[in-house]
Amino acid sequence: MRKNIVAGNWKMNKNLQEGLAFTDALQLALSNHDKINCEVIIGAPFIHLAHISGKINDKKLHVAAQNCADKASGAYTGEVSAEMVASTGAKYVILGHSERRSYYGETDAILKEKVLLALANGLKPIFCIGEVLEEREAGKQEEVVRTQIENALFDLSAEDFGKIILAYEPVWAIGTGKTATPQQAQEMHAFIRKTIAGKYGETVADDTSILYGGSANASNAKELFSNPDVDGGLIGGASLEVEKFMPIIQAF
Ligand code: 13P
Repeated sequence: MRKNIVAGNWKMNKNLQEGLAFTDALQLALSNHDKINCEVIIGAPFIHLAHISGKINDKKLHVAAQNCADKASGAYTGEVSAEMVASTGAKYVILGHSERRSYYGETDAILKEKVLLALANGLKPIFCIGEVLEEREAGKQEEVVRTQIENALFDLSAEDFGKIILAYEPVWAIGTGKTATPQQAQEMHAFIRKTIAGKYGETVADDTSILYGGSANASNAKELFSNPDVDGGLIGGASLEVEKFMPIIQAF
């Protein structure tokens, strides 16, 4: 059975002290609620990962990097490898976020390499896909998302694909306050699951967690997560404060 997951993506926010204070406060809040019905992930900057991992003692809480290099090791100044990420205790890595695709030129081919390296080092990729506004207005959202998945992921074995978490993040909904409607989210998530089933079969498709991201918050999380194919969220802005993040976790 697939897992329900609420993952925060801090992006380039919080210094180390702020990140650690957040982690303490989140763990306290989680321990004060006996019914937490999802896995919780904090997507933190590289330099925070080992420190945050060292603080975590809640079995439902995990840490994710927000990126990793597309090379295994060597003379790539400033890059951080998947092996380095894994050595911090992080279990996940967010890959293919639209901000990395658009600001840092990450192509499907580069992302394919990152996914392979993440898997080779025991990290589970949280792989982001999603269309920009013009593509949705032209009715091309399914084609765009299918191509992103096919190009970066469909050469994986079924066993390796089973380690992937997908995050549908329509670019027009990221940081804009304009959330996809529950219907739009469900439609796309069902399409993504069908696409996976077409390649790997129903069982793998049924077992894949597909998260929604894009202006998700405490007010809309319950309705979004109540869709049969929405297995949680990848949360940006609303993951930066425990008071805003906790109600999203409790939406399950
Ligand atoms: P917001 O929740 O701030 O819209 O960001 C979504 C996102 O990009 C998460 O990866």
